[in-house]
Amino acid sequence: MKLWEGRFTQPSAKSADDFNQSLGFDYKLYWHDILASIAHVKMLGETQIIPKESAEKISDALVNILADIEKGSLELEGAEDIHTFVEQELTKRIGATGKMLHAARSRNDQVATDLRLYVKDSIVNVCGHLRALINTLLEIASNNVQFIMPGYTHMRRAQPISVAQYFNAYSEMFLRDIERFTDSYKRTDVMPLGSCAMAGTDFPIDRRMTAGLLSFSDISQNSIDAVSDRDFVAEYIFCCSTVMAHLSRMAEDLIIYTTDEFGFMEISDEYSTGSSIMPQKKNPDIPELVRGKTGRVYGDLTAILTVIKGIPLSYNKDLQEDKEPLFDAETTVLACLNIFNELLQHLSFDTRKMRNAAAGGFSTATDIADYLVQKGMPFRDAHAVTGQIVRYCIENGKTLDKLDLFVYQQFSTLFDEEILQRVKVNHSVEARKVIGGSARSAVRENIRSITRRLNRMFKNN
Ligand code: ARG
Repeated sequence: MKLWEGRFTQPSAKSADDFNQSLGFDYKLYWHDILASIAHVKMLGETQIIPKESAEKISDALVNILADIEKGSLELEGAEDIHTFVEQELTKRIGATGKMLHAARSRNDQVATDLRLYVKDSIVNVCGHLRALINTLLEIASNNVQFIMPGYTHMRRAQPISVAQYFNAYSEMFLRDIERFTDSYKRTDVMPLGSCAMAGTDFPIDRRMTAGLLSFSDISQNSIDAVSDRDFVAEYIFCCSTVMAHLSRMAEDLIIYTTDEFGFMEISDEYSTGSSIMPQKKNPDIPELVRGKTGRVYGDLTAILTVIKGIPLSYNKDLQEDKEPLFDAETTVLACLNIFNELLQHLSFDTRKMRNAAAGGFSTATDIADYLVQKGMPFRDAHAVTGQIVRYCIENGKTLDKLDLFVYQQFSTLFDEEILQRVKVNHSVEARKVIGGSARSAVRENIRSITRRLNRMFKNN
């Protein structure tokens, strides 16, 4: 059955049907499509646009169709798209009454409604996974506040930090990701149904009633925009993209930190792979795949943005191309969040190696400059003097914490005994008590603050 064949004298070509169909991927909308139809038909009955008994009959049949799909006894095939499939099945089951369902509706506002319902649920689901990941990161952070590792800029040792502060940094990113999804939810939570093909409808429908039944917070205010708008899909995929960016950065860190050269961390055997030719190898395939799949989600974002950009108002069939990028981004981000969470739970640390690395590379040089500033030297001069001390160490094979006081004093008379403490990594980490800094007290506060903000985001569930 086609929903539109009345006007035609010839059947469509099989090749054209195949090319046109979307059931192969939009079957994923079946749940939301049927739910939206149940709400729509209830409203049609309440407003007496169709007889109440017919509305009830349709609604009951829709419930049965949904149950059969869920059970797996009804195959989703043999129609142009999911909307056609459901209507076709309805008419098969209850005859002519089924044909009343589509009054005061078009597939254009129907698909936009289904998709918004789908994205709303998906946002909640992805945020739940982000929450689980942050909980894992918080646990790692809490267990590692006292351990020190090198912090890097330009991939060169910069300053010593607490291991916990490093993991908290990623929690902050994933918190923002939840915030971004939550914010986009507000704009997704608007019901297009009632916009019909594009100009609205002349039936006396009650849009607020349908919206209430479907738990939409609001209804769209312009029918042309409502059937054309896919901003919410682009936003959703953008939100997925930032999650992937953050996962990918962490994946990259883990790949580096687990090399033999660094050896700070080790991924457990369960989450590693071997080489088919080199028996000694333990490869980080999982973080590499997460990094690689990031490109794929960015591709989905580029796809949806490009689909939207050139189409004249209002609905055009191009918009059918919104679904595959959406589903692909969703599947990918969920798979990556899950596996990354597991991998992190099985990550182990070589705290001695991390600490030794943190002590090397003159990582407390900034502390010397800060010390001189606190003794009254302008920062630029302090920076220059410290640079000379580092050069002296390099030329004489020394480290900052092994220099004698009298050597320091050759560079500035402002140095006294205290400098020998100040250049120790522990001291350096502890000195940065500023909010957000590396000191244990600040890092513990950061953990508390992340926990607080996370709980606040999920206060209703
Ligand atoms: N499968 C279509 C889509 O995904 C449904 C809407 C079809 N509307 C139409 N006027 N042909 O966009």
